[in-house]
Amino acid sequence: MKKVVILGDSGHSKVISDLIYSTEGMLLTAKLDDRYNEAFVREGVTKGPIRYLRQLLQEEPDICVVFGIGSNTVRKKLVKELGLPRTSFITLIHPTAVISPSAVIGLGTVVMPRVVVNADSTIGDHAILNTGSIIEHDCKIADYAHISPQAILAGGVEVGEGAHVGAGASVIPLKTVGEWSTIGAGAAVVYNIPGNVTAVGVPAKEIRKEGI
Ligand SMILES: CC(C)(COP(=O)(O)OP(=O)(O)OC[C@H]1O[C@@H](n2cnc3c(N)ncnc32)[C@H](O)[C@@H]1OP(=O)(O)O)[C@@H](O)C(=O)NCCC(=O)NCCS
Repeated sequence: MKKVVILGDSGHSKVISDLIYSTEGMLLTAKLDDRYNEAFVREGVTKGPIRYLRQLLQEEPDICVVFGIGSNTVRKKLVKELGLPRTSFITLIHPTAVISPSAVIGLGTVVMPRVVVNADSTIGDHAILNTGSIIEHDCKIADYAHISPQAILAGGVEVGEGAHVGAGASVIPLKTVGEWSTIGAGAAVVYNIPGNVTAVGVPAKEIRKEGI
């Protein structure tokens, strides 16, 4: 059994807990979140502040870590602050996800139920491929990106670091969503979207020079 610690204990982390329960050979051992001041055990799961991770790793160095935090910026900040070896993080893939043998999924990335990742796509570290999203062939999704439920990326799409593609949004082939940009729910991206902006609508247009 691989023991797994989730960082974060709010909405997104519930989905990650379910992902762990539905993955064979994994055991949820702790959920750490800075809304807790000290460590305690509830229903067999340790809860405590994120700094408690150090102690858990000292006691059991083989423990794996995954984020249950939806904010792309917070995940990046914590990776830097914690300074853990990259291999401390675990990749979680729901058994109903369909991943091409030629696709590459980064460490710490979570792949929710019914996601499809097609041939030669690469997904960075600590990304979220949310429920039912479709990543077509030859896509490149950078670290910390979040592809929301039912979003569709057509072939050869690139999504930059920390970008967020909203629920049900589509991106047509070969277009780029720049780093730390947000694409609104239901948008259709038919032109390249630069970094650090928010774009919404069909076709997606910039509404703000500020992304995440
Ligand atoms: C794009 C988004 C981030 C903007 O949020 P916001 O900054 O709070 O923006 P506001 O709600 O103030 O809306 C600003 C304007 O954009 C419009 N707008 C917002 N989201 C839109 C969307 N998805 N599609 C079309 N128009 C949208 C609003 O109607 C508003 O228009 P107005 O100025 O004419 O009234 C947000 O609406 C969104 O779509 N988020 C995606 C959430 C998601 O998919 N989460 C998945 C989690 S698993």
